[in-house]
Amino acid sequence: MLRGVRLGILTVSFVVFIGAADADAPGGQPMGVGVAKAEFGKTPDGKEVDLYTLTNAHGMKAKIITYGGIITELDAPDRDGKMGDVVLGFDNLKSYLAGSPYFGALIGRVANRIAKGRFTLDGKEYKLFINNGPNALHGGEKGFDKVVWKAEPANTQDGPALKLTYLSPSGEEGYPGNLTVHVTYTLTNDNELRIDYSATTDKATPVNLTNHSYFNLGGPGSGDILGHEVMIAADKYTPVDGTMIPTGEIKPVKGTPLDFTKPTTIGARIDKLKSDKATANPGGYDHNYVLRGDNKERALVASVHEPKTGRTMEVYTTEPGLQFYTGNFLDGTLKGKNGVVYKKHQAFCMEADHFPDSVNHADFPSTILAPGKTYTQTTVYKFSAK
Ligand code: BGC
Repeated sequence: MLRGVRLGILTVSFVVFIGAADADAPGGQPMGVGVAKAEFGKTPDGKEVDLYTLTNAHGMKAKIITYGGIITELDAPDRDGKMGDVVLGFDNLKSYLAGSPYFGALIGRVANRIAKGRFTLDGKEYKLFINNGPNALHGGEKGFDKVVWKAEPANTQDGPALKLTYLSPSGEEGYPGNLTVHVTYTLTNDNELRIDYSATTDKATPVNLTNHSYFNLGGPGSGDILGHEVMIAADKYTPVDGTMIPTGEIKPVKGTPLDFTKPTTIGARIDKLKSDKATANPGGYDHNYVLRGDNKERALVASVHEPKTGRTMEVYTTEPGLQFYTGNFLDGTLKGKNGVVYKKHQAFCMEADHFPDSVNHADFPSTILAPGKTYTQTTVYKFSAK
């Protein structure tokens, strides 16, 4: 359908030659409701990677590959009901393997940064791979975004789903404990992409999971996201040092360009968040928001509206933090789906998770999972149009 929207008349050939699963059946009910599986290639060590397409009753689609649990495509309706892709990504596995800035991927064992890649737990110091300046970022050298997950498709009452499982062995990327991780993507018939995470361990370990989708509600080829209107239900944020590690302070957003308590376009104040050569900061939003409430229950924490297409995305989560990132490091060197070159501020991420470097900040909500306990988190991206 996406190709149909973009290329007009070519829809017909696409549907005829590639298969009926993407076509609408007579009577308006989209065909292919449920989960379809296809091959997506092999990793260099010979592991097969599959692509699962989840289609809900309204024809919304989510394409997910077993490599990194990556969402490669997400089709959501615009105000005319036309479906269009709203995430950045690549057409093929080779490009993901060659180096992706975490497009659409599951992030773990610990999302965001850990200062100097070190932490102490139960009296023992652990050392992690340093992959971001002096710090560890997004799970290390080979995080959960670069492993092949076991997949089990299901048709649930809420909509088509894909349950992914990964067993992270003790010592992997320097982390203690064998960690069993389950992530279920459900594309509900309310046009929500719901992500339910759970994990258990046999030794205390930090765990902080998230999804790193890069959204552009106008479509990945529509230019920058500066005209998107954003609301973030957060009065505070965690300031960082020059290496993006929290100083430990929790400061109000009021009176700063970070205040999105009232819907404001991303571009309205982004220039105030200047680039800084000394710290290699390209400028733009890349901040952890302290969400309101205790966030034990799923709560609306953000909404984004794209005025041209009318697409709106609401974010709900059980997590205490939201990393709002405006694709500052996209620099035009990556060519994505349909040949689109990804430039600075061409997408935004809303990564619901715990605060950066929590493992080294005793007063931040804890990321430590103990044996016998179960880590859970749920984040929902809900789509509509107005
Ligand atoms: C971080 C950015 C980082 C990006 C990597 C985000 O979660 O906040 O600083 O550059 O991930 O793609």
